[in-house]
Amino acid sequence: MDFTGTHITASGQFEREDLDLLFRVADSMLPYAQKNGVSDLMKGKVLATLFFEPSTRTRFSFETAMLRLGGHVINNYLMNETSSITKWESLYDTGRTVSQFADVIAMRHPEAGAVEELAKGSTVPVISCGDGAHDHPTQGLLDVYTLYKEKGRIDGLKIAMVGDLKYSRVVHSQSQLLRNYKNIELVLVSPKELELPEDLVSELKDSGFKVTVTEDFEAVVGDLDVISMARIQKERFPDMDEYEKFKGVYVLTLDLLRKAKQDALVMAPLPRVDEIDIACDGDPRCKYFEQVQYGVAVRMALLALVLGLR
Ligand code: NCD
Repeated sequence: MDFTGTHITASGQFEREDLDLLFRVADSMLPYAQKNGVSDLMKGKVLATLFFEPSTRTRFSFETAMLRLGGHVINNYLMNETSSITKWESLYDTGRTVSQFADVIAMRHPEAGAVEELAKGSTVPVISCGDGAHDHPTQGLLDVYTLYKEKGRIDGLKIAMVGDLKYSRVVHSQSQLLRNYKNIELVLVSPKELELPEDLVSELKDSGFKVTVTEDFEAVVGDLDVISMARIQKERFPDMDEYEKFKGVYVLTLDLLRKAKQDALVMAPLPRVDEIDIACDGDPRCKYFEQVQYGVAVRMALLALVLGLR
């Protein structure tokens, strides 16, 4: 795709060559993301972050990306409470308005399709930071970038997605992005009620992937190159009794980690609830905090590409 001026609202937008380019640019940004060196690539540029849902990593990651490249940030992380949306302004008009101020917009919203709606009104690129349980393209991108950095390849990996595969938008993004690679074996570990949506499973199978579905994490843990944990998404459950049923259903413990391959990679988008025992954090195979810095580099690259600066 031609990144310049393009809204980034769906993981399905990315083809292999787009990922290759994005990761090449991210590599060049990595020193800045890791706080080495200074850049003024974004000098004079303004990023607006519009958050209708809570966030620690994604918003700070975008804002850090802009600031460390010498740009500026305006933000509203309480859009639901303090923006003119409370005066019934439409998402379309909000997009039209904010694009008068900013050069690029990063936005999160609890409803699927809301980012696209705001993007329709915006005259500057809008980047989705997650829309409900639907899609979270930049987290998926940073996860795939983590695979490339930590495993040195993506083709041919055996990857398990473990936990709430129904409501985790990150899993939905990962599965769509991974379709750009070859010979991937996917192991989908979840309770029956929280399985990956059927359309996504079919797409994976259509890509020629071997897909295994299981509820038994322990039975498969020894044979995986990558373990990607997805917390049970409490806020997406219509019924809290249902959530209570699945809370804590999969916990990565040191005992389980002992059974994993010596060179396995453990990823998680965070936040952590209870799905990874803190005792695992010291294990060199666990890279979930390193992922956070990879995320800054990927978002730097994406900002540079959509602004036509790379
Ligand atoms: C994810 C999200 O918001 O979907 N968090 C993140 O952006 N790092 C994952 C989650 O909340 O489980």
